[in-house]
Amino acid sequence: MDLHVDLESLAEGLTLPASWYTDPAVLRLEHERIFRRTWQYAGHTGQVAERGDYFTCRAGDVPVVVVRDREQSVRAFANVCRHRAHEVARGAGRRETLQCPYHAWTYGLDGSLRKAPRSDREPGFDRSAFSLAPVRVETWGPFVFVNADPEAGPLADALAELPALLAGGGVDVAALRFHSRAPTELDANWKVACENYLECYHCAVAHPAFSAQIDVSPDAYRLEESETFWSQYAALRDGGKPSYDARGEVERGQFHLLWPNVKLNVVPGRPNVSIGPVLPVSPERSSGFLDYFFADDADDAWIEDVLAFDDQVGREDKGLVESVQRGLASGAVERGRLLLNSEHLIHGFQRRVAETLL
Ligand code: FES
Ligand SMILES: [Fe+2]
Repeated sequence: MDLHVDLESLAEGLTLPASWYTDPAVLRLEHERIFRRTWQYAGHTGQVAERGDYFTCRAGDVPVVVVRDREQSVRAFANVCRHRAHEVARGAGRRETLQCPYHAWTYGLDGSLRKAPRSDREPGFDRSAFSLAPVRVETWGPFVFVNADPEAGPLADALAELPALLAGGGVDVAALRFHSRAPTELDANWKVACENYLECYHCAVAHPAFSAQIDVSPDAYRLEESETFWSQYAALRDGGKPSYDARGEVERGQFHLLWPNVKLNVVPGRPNVSIGPVLPVSPERSSGFLDYFFADDADDAWIEDVLAFDDQVGREDKGLVESVQRGLASGAVERGRLLLNSEHLIHGFQRRVAETLL
């Protein structure tokens, strides 16, 4: 396949070719070069609070199971049976062992193969050679990340200044408590969803309630590029029309995209974080979720208002990205044109995608 794009044309503001958003060969390459090598938000520590607790997730196309083992450490494995590759664990729960539902091979919480029915009839069968493949797992406060690349650098390198930015913005992540998970399904390539997230040029047009509360004018709404993530900082609009009460320790909103696909949001008000991935399902479909966390001083009514505010923005964005996907798939326009003073974070993201794939 011809995956050519010259970086100079990207620097001039041209977008990635439309075919990169529909071609299965591009997605295969993205899995191999991007998703299997980056830190992926998987879930929260409350899901593995007790010995034997486990939950399943994905690092791109790699099924993963995260467990709390007998020694009370959090571990992760490829959730792929060493027999014939059925997924071993399903959903979430608490178990002494993980048993594959296909032929009942049974693994310890340390990933070692404990039982394989009828394997005693196989001369030379060496159980110790068939442990679940380990996957890297690390935590930041209540957030659990996995990485399918055994050679990957530590999570802290990927997060870089993010923990300090949150702390400086009034959010102590260690004091946050998980509240709920909001799932999303999009008929759009994962990059369309990330790019939509990386600019607020569309906010005044497409998010009236958000823009009534947040100052989305280009001089007030700041965009910043770091090595491993892209950030937007938002202040409240003077005399704005609030959808929720934004008074509190957190004065400004922070919206970060951690390379390649993890969104991390803080809205003004009481300490809060929502975090989650956009995961490709197919070239033209993605799924994702946001896990919401709040500090103890956030009461239920306030939380409901924030969730409603966010849900409104999410529904508006779903309409936008699905329309973009139809346009990209139409073949009518091969390359779009970014405004580099308002959409430079998208340019940075696309350049990174191109440099990683080519
Ligand atoms: S595939 Fe898991 S036991 Fe056969
Ligand atoms: Fe949006």
